[in-house]
Amino acid sequence: MSTSQDLARKDPSRLPSSLVLVGCGKMGGALLEGWIRTGLPGERITVLDPHVHMGLVSFCERHDVTLNPPLSQVSEPEALVLGIKPQMLDDAASDLKDLAGPDTLVISILAGKTLGDLRSRLPRARAVIRAMPNLPASVQRGVTGCSGTPEVSDRQRDIANALLSGVGLVEWVESEELIDAVTAVSGSGPAYVFHLVECLARAGAAQGLPPDLAERLARATVEGAGELLHRSDLTPGTLRENVTSPGGTTAAALAVLAAPDGLAPLMDRAVAAARKRAEELSG
Ligand SMILES: NC(=O)c1ccc[n+]([C@@H]2O[C@H](COP(=O)([O-])OP(=O)(O)OC[C@H]3O[C@@H](n4cnc5c(N)ncnc54)[C@H](OP(=O)(O)O)[C@@H]3O)[C@@H](O)[C@H]2O)c1
Repeated sequence: MSTSQDLARKDPSRLPSSLVLVGCGKMGGALLEGWIRTGLPGERITVLDPHVHMGLVSFCERHDVTLNPPLSQVSEPEALVLGIKPQMLDDAASDLKDLAGPDTLVISILAGKTLGDLRSRLPRARAVIRAMPNLPASVQRGVTGCSGTPEVSDRQRDIANALLSGVGLVEWVESEELIDAVTAVSGSGPAYVFHLVECLARAGAAQGLPPDLAERLARATVEGAGELLHRSDLTPGTLRENVTSPGGTTAAALAVLAAPDGLAPLMDRAVAAARKRAEELSG
């Protein structure tokens, strides 16, 4: 199966003719590296970020990316990607207003900032996409949930797919309200998996393993299971059944985890709490 990243490499017309990235920290930096990997020529990219560190300067020099030119020299790009912290949006808004023209595709990764928030700060912009990536984007294994305004054209959606696939899988939801559910599943999800490792290690130590060994076992188990999921076409349920012999040790543990008071209702409550909090933060 071809990914958007493969398609972008084969067909560079899916990539924007000009792109401005505002805010190049952890997530913006991961996106920038992904674009270069995807084949977006560096000369098409301008990065605006007051927090310049040597790594960013040398990356931009190596790939012909323009870093922090005077704003007066930056014209409305085909794509404007916002990678600042949500609380910085108001401060940045006056500069952004001039950058986002009627033909600019705006892609925001700002958690909790709605399409309405973004459009009110960027009054000339029409095509706006709200995207929620997650932490594994930093190792190109993220998943990004997206929702856009009705004005996003097919070409702009292609561009967004190509740009966001530089850091992993891209998924679209029908209505913006579902972005809060995406946040609760994949946005916050990596932390749930890290906590699973902690709990598995703790349980191993309770069974007599030295705590550091229990942690190494738990960590390697989750890494390996994740890699299997990644490489396999089988459903998680089939993978689980394949390692569960009737009457065996795994079946004994799963009987506890799948009990009415087991992991499923707990996960329902955890994800519902995350969604509720996401709704509160979006105002
Ligand atoms: N990290 C994640 O796992 C994750 C997941 C999903 C979504 N997000 C979203 O991604 C966005 C960025 O998060 P992050 O973790 O990458 O944050 P970050 O590392 O703090 O990066 C933000 C960058 O923007 C710069 N900045 C501040 N004001 C600016 C302005 N007016 N113009 C241009 N650049 C400016 C900051 O510089 P200073 O340091 O000098 O302020 C910093 O370099 C957030 O909105 C967050 O909600 C992050």
